[in-house]
Amino acid sequence: MNGKFGKHCCLYPGSFDPVTLGHMDVIRRAAAIFDTVVVGVLHNPDKQGLFPVERRVEMLKRACEGIPNVEIIAWPGLLAHLTRETGIRVVVRGVRNAADLDSESMMAHINGQLDPGLETLFLPASPHHADISASMVRQLAQFGADISNYVPSQVLPDILAAFAKP
Ligand code: PNS
Repeated sequence: MNGKFGKHCCLYPGSFDPVTLGHMDVIRRAAAIFDTVVVGVLHNPDKQGLFPVERRVEMLKRACEGIPNVEIIAWPGLLAHLTRETGIRVVVRGVRNAADLDSESMMAHINGQLDPGLETLFLPASPHHADISASMVRQLAQFGADISNYVPSQVLPDILAAFAKP
């Protein structure tokens, strides 16, 4: 993967379990700034998975079909090893509130230590999407609430099926 992505490229990493409209907002805005946005499905050891990584990648691909300069990849290891391997120098993360900013700043510092020169840019969540999280979507879906305002229409059936009663 080394050198595959050009200079004006960013990595948007996350669990995307599942992809939400909040994620799509960040992807679209990053795609308007960078030549290429690499969306990386990474492992978050603090979160229990709903969809296997391959399904998350496939769902992201469907949701991003209309955005030409987006690539979706999976990476099983550290974020900093991915940026070193690909040569990507900019990481983009969405921040919704002060708590996000706190934890994201910590993550940015550590990633910068592991891969010197790596920059993390924060995009403030659009007001309309500031309350959306994948864990909130999972919880609402589990109890049968309407989640159509929070997830891309392309992946809504996947989420409903995952929680459908047998
Ligand atoms: O969507 P999330 O769960 O907020 O994304 C967090 C994620 C996956 C980007 C983060 O957990 C991560 O970078 N995981 C890969 C392992 C890693 O590099 N951990 C050290 C981060 S300081």
